Amino acid sequence: MKKISKFAKSGTIPLQLLGGLTPKEFLSEYWHKKPLLIRNAIPEFTGLLSPEELAGLACEEEVQSRLVIKTNNGWELEHGPFDERRFSKLPQTDWTLLVQEVNFHLNEAQSLIGRFNFIPHARLDDLMVSYAPHGGGVGPHFDSYDVFLLQGVGKRSWKIGENCDLTLVEEAPLRILKNFESEQEWILEAGDMLYLPPHVAHWGIAVGDCMTYSIGFRAPSEQELAVEFLSYVQEACQLEGRYKDPDLKFQKHPAQISSDMVSKVTGIINKLEWSSKDVSCFLGCYLSEPKPHVVFSRPRSINPGRFQAKLRKEGVELSSQTIFLFRGDAFFMNGELLEVDKRWRKTLRTLADWRSLGPEWFDVQEELDQGLLGQLHEWYAAGYLKFPD
Ligand code: SIN
Ligand code: CO
Repeated sequence: MKKISKFAKSGTIPLQLLGGLTPKEFLSEYWHKKPLLIRNAIPEFTGLLSPEELAGLACEEEVQSRLVIKTNNGWELEHGPFDERRFSKLPQTDWTLLVQEVNFHLNEAQSLIGRFNFIPHARLDDLMVSYAPHGGGVGPHFDSYDVFLLQGVGKRSWKIGENCDLTLVEEAPLRILKNFESEQEWILEAGDMLYLPPHVAHWGIAVGDCMTYSIGFRAPSEQELAVEFLSYVQEACQLEGRYKDPDLKFQKHPAQISSDMVSKVTGIINKLEWSSKDVSCFLGCYLSEPKPHVVFSRPRSINPGRFQAKLRKEGVELSSQTIFLFRGDAFFMNGELLEVDKRWRKTLRTLADWRSLGPEWFDVQEELDQGLLGQLHEWYAAGYLKFPD
């Protein structure tokens, strides 16, 4: 744990995952700027689940999945959940199954995502896993996300174009580029990884059966940020008073909105103010808000005494769907703000950064802070925290 913290603080240790670059070098030279191919990023990586297990996930109600089939006439798209019989009716080649948010459903996925801790959690979207037989893929397209495309079993050819025309085929059921032109091409094998910033055109085609792990980092649009912020402001704003016009003048056109009225209302609207603290509260709540389909499963209740004893023995982890961010003393768990006592700050920051607290955090001679324990117990009861498996 000590080593990881040191690396996280400095970002100056070269990583095999980044082809020998340090996180700082990667961030300054490549991140959000240009593609990077990394051979053998994770040596001996053969993936986290089998094609059958992936198909099993795609049959589950709460899992988001898609099938993309390339036909003679173009592309077909089907959304899950799928009936397992669907998979026996697929052609031999030229299709792909994609499953989103595999990190919510597979414990092993957390440690894979943890390797990308050099990117802030606030930017993380999810781990998507795809399976494709020979020829399968989602076609030439671009994403608005930063993505690390890590090759699992099998091989995939990747063609990319940094200067492509980004016009999309209008009638296609998925985002397909009309005029894709490949500028570079590689065959990735198990453990190789391709980093792509947003808007780089790419086309991955399976060479034989293959599985690909996409670790995606979201970049919200300015419009989305503005709309969400305004809705936050709407909830938080408290303006006293009411429109007043004791100085009302006779109007020749009673239907006309007068300049006087416009300037009075401009004055009222201008009373709306926000500080960087408001923006940071908004960001913490918004970025840690789980997507609408996410459901936390509540554990069987345990009393505080037993909870504390289990913490001392096992430590505690964030549930895989939990998003926990902080800024200063403000902590944001799954869309909720909690301003915490200074004494809890170090513990909660560690939990947020590393998604777990080992038993040593609770194995202290003196009495454990009851307030902190109560908060952890509450989060546990909500299904936001869990004991390690
Ligand atoms: C994939 O087919 O696994 C990757 C999808 C993509 O290109 O974003
Ligand atoms: Co893509």
